Amino acid sequence: MASSFELLFISSLLFFSHFIVSSKGQGLPPLVKGLSWTFFDSTCPNLESIVRKRLEKVFKDDIGQAAGLLRLHFHDCFVQGCDGSVMLDGSAGGPSEKTAIPNQTLRKESFKIIEDLRERVHKECGRIVSCSDIAALAARDAVVLTGGPNYVVPLGRRDGLNFATESATLDNLVPPTANTTTLLTRLATKGFDATDVVALSGAHTIGISHCTSFTERLYPNQDATMDKTFGNNLKRSCPKVDSNSTVNMDFRSPNVFDNKYYVDLMNRQGLFTSDQDLYTDKRTRRIVTSFGTDQKVFFDKFVIAMIKMGQLNVSTGRQGEIRAKCSVTNKGKLLADVVEGLDKTLAAAF
Ligand code: HEM
Ligand SMILES: *[C@@H]1O[C@H](CO)[C@@H](O)[C@H](O)[C@H]1NC(C)=O
Ligand SMILES: *[C@@H]1O[C@H](CO)[C@@H](O)[C@H](O)[C@H]1NC(C)=O
Ligand SMILES: *[C@@H]1O[C@H](CO)[C@@H](O)[C@H](O)[C@H]1NC(C)=O
Ligand SMILES: *[C@@H]1O[C@H](CO)[C@@H](O)[C@H](O)[C@H]1NC(C)=O
Repeated sequence: MASSFELLFISSLLFFSHFIVSSKGQGLPPLVKGLSWTFFDSTCPNLESIVRKRLEKVFKDDIGQAAGLLRLHFHDCFVQGCDGSVMLDGSAGGPSEKTAIPNQTLRKESFKIIEDLRERVHKECGRIVSCSDIAALAARDAVVLTGGPNYVVPLGRRDGLNFATESATLDNLVPPTANTTTLLTRLATKGFDATDVVALSGAHTIGISHCTSFTERLYPNQDATMDKTFGNNLKRSCPKVDSNSTVNMDFRSPNVFDNKYYVDLMNRQGLFTSDQDLYTDKRTRRIVTSFGTDQKVFFDKFVIAMIKMGQLNVSTGRQGEIRAKCSVTNKGKLLADVVEGLDKTLAAAF
């Protein structure tokens, strides 16, 4: 009795000390010019609670959506900066761009969730919060509400006016077949060190993957770095190279944001080459081990890496715009409205 009380007391102390540290921004990556820890404190004080409360409900219905939102923010930031470009129609799931391979597996539902959040926020505060800021908050809440660390999110991003091209998308998103050398080199160009790379990859502790993202490790021959039993189980879920099915990314605790992803790697049960090679490679192995044996170390490094990622090439101040709808630029929206109006007129005429 006494000991569980003590535990509770200690954990609340830890919780508050962590919170105080983060709220001052101490020990966290520096702020990029134009972003702020308190951006909407006076203009939209309920912003964070609107997002949090809504997502609590969304995740209660389907916890899988948390992973989708976390990944959406990652794709937004890596391609042309965190500017909401990933949400523009025709960029994700749009008919002309189905071939942008990394885009195909973003969840359609994630876009709807962000748009719904935007509507709620703009209803209360007006059109002052960008889709990109909302995606950053949603990603943070996805982490927190699945059991991960809480952290402060710098705000003040503006939404971009342009799509990224398909080649920019492929250039900026590393494929799951990449080895550690490729991963470290490519992410170094964005300012991430080896610790950041290993920590960010830990996002794969939640969510799912389509078979086609890893079956090259199973067929024709099973990757020698993969645990045999684990491989056989994957083959059962994905009987063919092109099986249209999904598996959990972290089979130990698929919907909990914890350090089990690293335990998977230490047992040669990582899903992608880009995951497993972090343990094979001497330069990152001891980072994997330190995260796998101490969850707090992982959480602290993850928070740092996420705050860095969330500030990649942001538009601020008078750059870009605050979109009235996340899937179209404001100029595009006006055009779309006109076209839709014309269509109706025409339809009425026939
Ligand atoms: C560093 C290189 C990375 C590679 C190569 C990579 C690759 C992938 C791939 C191939 C998938 C599965 C897509 C599918 O088949 O459905 C996936 C899923 C996922 N990724 Fe990554 N990823 C990387 C980094 C990240 C980062 C930095 C984050 C977030 C901070 C992230 C979060 C996720 C999440 C949450 C999922 C599950 C999505 C869902 O359940 O809908 N990934 N990733
Ligand atoms: C694909 O997604 C990225 C972000 O993930 C987005 O910026 C880009 O415009 C999308 N479309 C294409 C064709 O690459
Ligand atoms: C990593 O991948 C790159 C590109 O595919 C390749 O050139 C390189 O030899 C690989 N490095 C190791 C250590 O396997
Ligand atoms: C994007 O950010 C990276 C790393 O911070 C920087 O090197 C690069 O110049 C930026 N690109 C643009 C277009 O601002
Ligand atoms: C793959 O599965 C999804 C959902 O289970 C389904 O919507 C889609 O049509 C399938 N695609 C093919 C090519 O069978």
